[in-house]
Amino acid sequence: MPKKKVNVIQLKEMKQAGQKFHMVTAYDYPTAMLVDKSEVELILVGDSLGMTVLGYSNTVPVTMEEMLHHIKAVVRGAPNTFIVGDMPFGSYNESKEQAIRNATRIMKEGGADCVKLEGGQEVAEIVQAIVKAGIPVMGHIGLTPQTVSQLGGFKVQGKDAEGARKLIDDAKSLEQAGAFSVVVECVPTPISKLITEKVSIPTLGIGAGIECDAQVLVFHDMMGLFERFTPKFVKQYANLSPVIVDALNTWVKEVRAGEFPEEKHSFTFKAEGLDRLY
Ligand code: KIV
Repeated sequence: MPKKKVNVIQLKEMKQAGQKFHMVTAYDYPTAMLVDKSEVELILVGDSLGMTVLGYSNTVPVTMEEMLHHIKAVVRGAPNTFIVGDMPFGSYNESKEQAIRNATRIMKEGGADCVKLEGGQEVAEIVQAIVKAGIPVMGHIGLTPQTVSQLGGFKVQGKDAEGARKLIDDAKSLEQAGAFSVVVECVPTPISKLITEKVSIPTLGIGAGIECDAQVLVFHDMMGLFERFTPKFVKQYANLSPVIVDALNTWVKEVRAGEFPEEKHSFTFKAEGLDRLY
């Protein structure tokens, strides 16, 4: 039986019931179809696509048009999975109007079930405005890749009491602004545990230990499809890169040896007059 798409109310209920849930990235139709067949409840069409599938060195160059292109493909492939559409850098910080306009595009043109954006207290008013416009918002605190240069690199966040206090305040202000959940990235386990206890909305951890209400991973990291670097918090559940390279090389070998295509991969010509064509 196909799974049934979850909704934001059920996700909050799952937190209350202590039932963990899962979110994985997908950026295209075939991957979305695979995730849709699995028990994973949420897909994030993350701006990490800038690095994993578009080859940028970070997420900053990703545009609204690129996000919409990928969100639409994922939505077509995963009708039974809740789809989170990431708002790219520069698409929500100018004004509430700009944020509402772009969040609306992600829902209306992209077909996503909610939007996600990065930041804590500094984006609370923007989150509130998007929520007031009727769009569910997932927050994202801790290591926020879009502002990584401000953070001084890809580093664990909340490592001292002051930093940890800021993260707790960030999570609380997102909750107050109406966000229905929050991603917590690269944060020590005791701090993500505190955050999870102090807010009523579900926390989705990536590099934030076991105490969050849900876990997130990037598909290309967990499947061994992105070899540029692998963060410490990633567990590889499959190593597909060598499998794919081997398959490609076997094909090359068989074509060179005249072993592919075989008759079963070819079409016959049954009509008369083949000899006259020579
Ligand atoms: O863009 C993304 O994939 C993300 C995850 C790292 C949470 O924001």
